[in-house]
Amino acid sequence: MLQIALLGFGVVGNGTAEVILQNQKQIAAYCGDEVNIKYILDLRDFPEHPLGNRVVHDIKIILDDPEVTLVAEMMGGSHPAYDFTCAALKAGKHVVTSNKEVVATFGAELLDLARENHVSYLFEASVGGGIPIIRPMQTDLASNEILAVSGILNGTTNFILTKMKNEGAAFADVLKLAQQKGYAEANPAADVEGLDAARKIVILAALAFGKLLDPNKISTTGITGITQEHTALADKLGGAVKLIGHTEKVDGRVLALVSPFLVFSSNPISHVDDVYNGILVDTNMLGRAFFYGAGAGKLPTASAVVADILDILSGRSTDRRLPHWTVADEADIADVASLSCRRVYVFEGCPRCEAKAKTALKTEDSVWLCDGKFAVISSKMSATNADAAVTATGLCPVLSLPVLE
Ligand code: NDP
Ligand code: HSE
Repeated sequence: MLQIALLGFGVVGNGTAEVILQNQKQIAAYCGDEVNIKYILDLRDFPEHPLGNRVVHDIKIILDDPEVTLVAEMMGGSHPAYDFTCAALKAGKHVVTSNKEVVATFGAELLDLARENHVSYLFEASVGGGIPIIRPMQTDLASNEILAVSGILNGTTNFILTKMKNEGAAFADVLKLAQQKGYAEANPAADVEGLDAARKIVILAALAFGKLLDPNKISTTGITGITQEHTALADKLGGAVKLIGHTEKVDGRVLALVSPFLVFSSNPISHVDDVYNGILVDTNMLGRAFFYGAGAGKLPTASAVVADILDILSGRSTDRRLPHWTVADEADIADVASLSCRRVYVFEGCPRCEAKAKTALKTEDSVWLCDGKFAVISSKMSATNADAAVTATGLCPVLSLPVLE
C-alpha cells in the first residue's frame, strides 16, 4: 500500500480524494500498488466525509510517519504552505502541489531542496488547472527551444469575460457565480487584477527560460477596467478581449506580462470560453502547439494533482528530471515596453483624424464602429513607439489593447 497525505481539504483537496477513490483500480494498476490517503490535514473536521477519520490538525503527525512518502499540498497561500513544503522535502517526502503562489515565489529554492533530499517536487496543477502543460513542456518539447508562451491562464476571468460578452452579464454577478463554482482564489482580487495569471506566466517563463521572475514585479493589468462596451467593440472588430499571460525572450532577456489583449478570431485563443484555458507554445522545431482544457474547478484540477502523484508513486519521476531554475536579477528582465506587436486603438473623431492615426501607426488597417468611433490596428511596433506616435497626433484613444498574434 502506498501511503500519502493531503494538506488542505477544500475544493482541490476534496477533488483529489474523489479522483483517488473513484479511479482506485486503474490507479493501482498504474502504480503497481494501491494508493491510500492516510492523513488529511485541515483546520476543520469533516465528520460526514467517508475519509473524515483521516483528518489531523498537526503537520508533525504526517512528517513523523515514515510510511507517508508523498504529500499533496492544496492549502493555498504562501504560509504555512511553503513552510510545510520545506519540512516535508527535508523529511524525505515527495511533494506535489496546485499552489501557484508558492511555486512562483519559492519554486527555485524548493526545486533545489527537493534535489538535495533526492525527492520530487511537481506542480502540474499550478498552471492551466487540468490541462497537461508543465510535463509536456519539460518532456515532449525537450528537443525544442521554446520561443514564446502565451495564453489564457485564469479560468475565473475568462468565465467573467465570456458571460459579459455573450450574455451581457454584470461583472460582480459573474464573479459571485465563479466563486460558487469553486474557480476563484480565496481572495478573488488575485484573479480579476491579474496576479494569479502573473504567477502562472512566471512559472511558464521559468520552465521555458530557466529564470524565475518575481510575479509581483511583472507588468500586470487585470480585467477590472474592461467594460461591456469594450467586449462589444472587440466583437465588432472580429475578435474578443482575453486576459493573456505572455512571455518571450527579447535580446536575451525574459519579457513577461499579463494584460487584456484583443485576439482576432483567426487565433484559436479567441474561441477559448468560460472556465477553459488555452496556452500557445511557440518552439523552434515543432512550431506552434496549442494546449486547451478546463483551467479551474474541483475535478479538472484534481486530475492534474493526481497525475503528479502517480508520476512519482509509479517511479516515473525522479529528482534528476526536476528543472533547474535561478532567481532572475534585473539584468535578466526585459522592459515590457519593448514587446513588439500590433495594437488596436479606438478613437472618437472624423475621417481626417482617422487618416492622421493611420499614418502615425504605419497602417492601412482601420474600421469605423458606431457613434463616431473608429479603430486603427497598428503595424507591429513596440508600446513605446506606438504610444509616442499616438501622442504626437494629439488624438486621445478611448481604448488601446495589444493584439495577440
Ligand atoms: P480552498 O480554500 O477551497 O481549500 C483550501 C483548504 O485548505 C481549506 O479547507 C482550508 O481551510 C485549508 N487550509 C488553509 N490553511 C490551512 C492550514 N494552515 N492548515 C491546514 N489547512 C489549511 O482552496 P482551493 O482548493 O480552491 O485551492 C487550493 C490551492 O489550489 C490554492 O493554491 C489554489 O490557488 C490552487 N488551485 C485552485 C484551483 C481551483 O479551481 N479551485 C485550480 C488550480 C489551483 P479553511 O477553509 O478552514 O481555511
Ligand atoms: N482561480 C484560478 C483560476 C484557479 O480561476 O484560474 C485555477 O488556478
